[in-house]
Amino acid sequence: MLQVLVADDEITTRIGLKALLERSGYSVVLALNGDAAWEVLSDDVPPQIALLDWEMPGLLGPEICRRLATRSNGPFVYTILLTGRTDDGDLVNGFDSGANDFMCKPFNALELKSRIGAAARIVQYERELHDKNVTLAEYATEMERLAEDRARQLVHSDRMATLGTLAAGMAHEINNPASFISGNLQTLELFWKDVGDALSRSECVAGDSKLLFIQEEMPKLIAEMRSGVSRISRIVNSLRSYSHAGAKTTDNLVAINTCVDDALLLCRNNLKHNVVTNCELDPDLPKVTGDCTQITQVLVNLITNAVHAMEPAGGTIHIESKVNDKDVVVTVRDSGQGIPEDSLEKIWLPFFTTKQVGKGTGLGLPICQRIIEEHGGSIGAENHLGGGALFTITLPLPKESRYETSPTHR
Ligand SMILES: Nc1ncnc2c1ncn2[C@@H]1O[C@H](COP(=O)(O)OP(=O)(O)OP(=O)(O)O)[C@@H](O)[C@H]1O
Ligand SMILES: [Mg+2]
Repeated sequence: MLQVLVADDEITTRIGLKALLERSGYSVVLALNGDAAWEVLSDDVPPQIALLDWEMPGLLGPEICRRLATRSNGPFVYTILLTGRTDDGDLVNGFDSGANDFMCKPFNALELKSRIGAAARIVQYERELHDKNVTLAEYATEMERLAEDRARQLVHSDRMATLGTLAAGMAHEINNPASFISGNLQTLELFWKDVGDALSRSECVAGDSKLLFIQEEMPKLIAEMRSGVSRISRIVNSLRSYSHAGAKTTDNLVAINTCVDDALLLCRNNLKHNVVTNCELDPDLPKVTGDCTQITQVLVNLITNAVHAMEPAGGTIHIESKVNDKDVVVTVRDSGQGIPEDSLEKIWLPFFTTKQVGKGTGLGLPICQRIIEEHGGSIGAENHLGGGALFTITLPLPKESRYETSPTHR
């Protein structure tokens, strides 16, 4: 029900207007002077229509209209000035103060009713306009957010492309010296065997503590260098995979369940006695288009990460494959410690790793992401309620397999 404020210092006017308005179905609030009227209108939810006497103690009607018209926020109030003044100049002054309408005393009841009716319609339009503006502002905010997201994605993919080129260049540059260091180390190991044997036989070593020290330390130094070079090779291989991840090599029909089996076979050595794998693979899974080796590589990365996340206690890796209308969905879930909330986005960034120096390159998941996106799919990570991480891969079905239920087409 619409609420009308009647502000007038004359009791007869107040009582008369109240009775008339209530008979027409409005709820009425009374104010004896301008200050009391302003207090009512300053409420969070003020009356929608205000009948304001021009001249009353405290704030005058036009002053209240001016304040309402100039306040920056607050709901719309339709104002009607009540006055005995009929001068044209007064009328102009009244409208200039921001009043929406003007009525001369004494009132004609019918005229007042229709003016209030018109005011009620305008209040209604104003309310609808306000609601539409709110919706529009929400849309605008959403559009801004989408535009910002898109811009961020573009910058990100641009950076990723640059990083890919950089990684390919670095991998090539580091690979050459790493290969000859590795080759020379093998030769050095062979040479040292002969030198060591000769030193052991030689009498001069016995009394020379420095030579004895060299004889003892040399094999350790060589072993450390070999482990260092193999770390370099691992990083170089990851960088290479990362830079090539975007380039799909084959475009065959791939049976994802076979990729899961291959990945588990490849990870056999990593799957320690305390890690159980539990597969729930849809036997009628349709094939997807892509490169079997690359999809297997993704699964190997996810399984290896899962094994690491469950160390040292071990646990269960649950792999599931299923199909929905448009995609094949593969999930890899573990019972490890899960991914800290503040790392959930960072895990996709190249070189982000929580593993010890030398243990992880932080390229595993970015490689997975590039491969899956290149296949037109998506990959996401979350923590599942039972504890542990859950990775979900979604790969689109070829158009001809969509909505197809007959296993003969699968
Ligand atoms: N299953 C998981 N549970 C908990 N954390 C995970 C899991 N998988 C990945 N992470 C987190 O994401 C980080 C990045 O993973 P990513 O595979 O990219 O690199 P990495 O495993 O650290 O190194 P690399 O793959 O080269 O051995 C990990 O260091 C780990 O912190
Ligand atoms: Mg990894």
